[in-house]
Amino acid sequence: MQSKRAKFIVSRFTPSNKTPQLKKYELKYGSTTTVLDALKLLKDKEDSSLAFRHSCGSGICGSCSVIVNGKPMLACQTYIKDLKQPIKIEPLRHFAVIKDLVTDISDVFEKMRGVIPQISRNQKVSTKNGEHLQTPAQLKKINQPSQCIKCMNCYSACPAYGNNKKFIGPMVGALAQRYNADSRDQSKAKRMDKIVGKDGVWDCSFVGECSKVCPKRVDPATTMQRLKITGVLRLAKKIISKK
Ligand code: FES
Repeated sequence: MQSKRAKFIVSRFTPSNKTPQLKKYELKYGSTTTVLDALKLLKDKEDSSLAFRHSCGSGICGSCSVIVNGKPMLACQTYIKDLKQPIKIEPLRHFAVIKDLVTDISDVFEKMRGVIPQISRNQKVSTKNGEHLQTPAQLKKINQPSQCIKCMNCYSACPAYGNNKKFIGPMVGALAQRYNADSRDQSKAKRMDKIVGKDGVWDCSFVGECSKVCPKRVDPATTMQRLKITGVLRLAKKIISKK
């Protein structure tokens, strides 16, 4: 039942405006109304020009992330009843705004391509005897980073990415580690060239905010530190092999 009213402050921006405008709205809400539901209602009832992204509505696609009361969150997984009012909704930080709550995240997808975001092998595996199987222990190594839904919350919370947009950033690091750790993959060396190169993993200052805002507990902050260790060991091996 929708009996209570909630106050909202929503960031509105069009490319013709130089700065975003904060607009106030009010809506009825119930115990199961999410921020995404509220945005849809605002679009239906108050202003059809309001722009925001969403798809699955169930925490799977990662497209609905916005800043809610100062923190990056999935709009579809955040309940109005749990929020302090007025509820301020803004676009993700550190990305250019296209319109209202829609940001340009193409930069991160470009970086993803750079770390070979798939299983990549030199030798083909015969499927004559069935699938290319993994043991439960091998699967465990990739289980956590495989949960990433690419919502970009981690980039929005990352001060290193805020300072340097060329930095590969937490999600791409976690993705690289996911494939590096996959028993079926053979492209770790190529990936690591990118990871330890300029604007790579060394820019991570281990603030840890990326892991705090991750809705899937992927823990990119720890992953970045693992990648640093792998990078150092790799460098040490190279130096020793030259002697
Ligand atoms: Fe898909 Fe929120 S709409 S995660």
